[in-house]
Amino acid sequence: MKLSTYQNTAKEILKINDFGGYTVPTKGLYPFQWNWDSAITALGWMYVDEKRAWKEIEMLIAGQWQNGMLPHIIFHQESDTYFPGPDVWGAGEKLHSTSISQPPIVASMMLEMAAIATDKPLLESKLKAMLPAIVDYHLWWYRDRDPQNTGLVSSYHPWESGMDNSPAWDDALAAVPQVEWEYQRRDLNHVDSDQRPHKAQYDRYLYLVDFFKKSNFDPQIIYQNCPYKVQDIGIIAMLYKATLDLLTLCQQFKIEHQGLDQLSKELELTEQAIDQLWSDETQFYHSRNTITNELCLDQTSAGFMTVYAGLSSPEKTQILTECAQTWANSSQYSLASTIPSSEKYEPQRYWRGPIWLHINWMIAQGFEKSNQNFIAEKLQQDAKALLKESGFFEYFHADSGQGCGGDNFSWTAAIALHWILK
Ligand code: GLC
Repeated sequence: MKLSTYQNTAKEILKINDFGGYTVPTKGLYPFQWNWDSAITALGWMYVDEKRAWKEIEMLIAGQWQNGMLPHIIFHQESDTYFPGPDVWGAGEKLHSTSISQPPIVASMMLEMAAIATDKPLLESKLKAMLPAIVDYHLWWYRDRDPQNTGLVSSYHPWESGMDNSPAWDDALAAVPQVEWEYQRRDLNHVDSDQRPHKAQYDRYLYLVDFFKKSNFDPQIIYQNCPYKVQDIGIIAMLYKATLDLLTLCQQFKIEHQGLDQLSKELELTEQAIDQLWSDETQFYHSRNTITNELCLDQTSAGFMTVYAGLSSPEKTQILTECAQTWANSSQYSLASTIPSSEKYEPQRYWRGPIWLHINWMIAQGFEKSNQNFIAEKLQQDAKALLKESGFFEYFHADSGQGCGGDNFSWTAAIALHWILK
């Protein structure tokens, strides 16, 4: 098939998932606006319609809470194809939403968008209008999720990580009680159960949702009592990178905000603290369960986000490069979301092995900047092969290359337009 045919398909996918200003990740399985999906999808829209691309982020900001939080899902309209919906969460201010966030990559996507924008007056007016809200969002992360100024923000739910059932959360999640009421999952109406999280995990995901509601979403109460509290290496690294990118944009577009100095200080704190998450035993970066104070020693692709963020030292980047090479060669396609040598590796089950193209893209950027182009190229080639062989799926089986989860997926289409179909 010709390149232009793939490009047209990718553009079509964005259009069919457009719900009037925001883009659903895929119809049916995910019928609302998701935070980091939307950030990536906005970048894809730049190849279709720049005005529409900025609108995507405006719609995300429309769901912002008073305290600055940008929710992980905004329930713009009702849908009975997803569970748990707005009634279960019982949250939101101007719009119904969840009460947690997601990897804060929106500022980084805005920087990418700014670099390719052709309509400069539009770019300038949109950034001027939106960047203050994004600064508030970052200040929220540091204030509410790191009240003791450790430099390492905490996550309160595996869904907040964007990597829902990663093996890294197993122990922390096992300590969460199970919800006692009966419920009916909707994800299994759309996708095979061997590609989705288990019930034991869902019971605990829902316990946490109830816990937030019972705590009246009060940040202090939740910080003190949440039965799941993890310093997530992925979120920490993506937040660091996005804060750097945000400061770059604010400087370039002369945005004034009283929180900017604070953000610079937060960057320093993270730089000083990040090596607490390095394990000499595994020679890798991990998340930390702050309830037990133990590192989650599973090796997942989130550890490479430190390279993407420019947070790992040259020595550690060298170690991570060698690790990535072996890792990439241990499954048929790269990069598996869990290291294939792990006994927890499952090449088809969601975040326990499969390949996600937006993650490949971010990790490739990191290695490219560290002059390790061969890894960046391998990740890109494998992404291209997966797309050609299987199409625009949510994620891909790391060994067979089979498309998994939802089809006609927005972030896969967006990353294809920006990174692969060139
Ligand atoms: C799943 C993924 C998450 C994503 C969402 C919508 O929950 O784990 O990362 O944002 O689906 O695509």
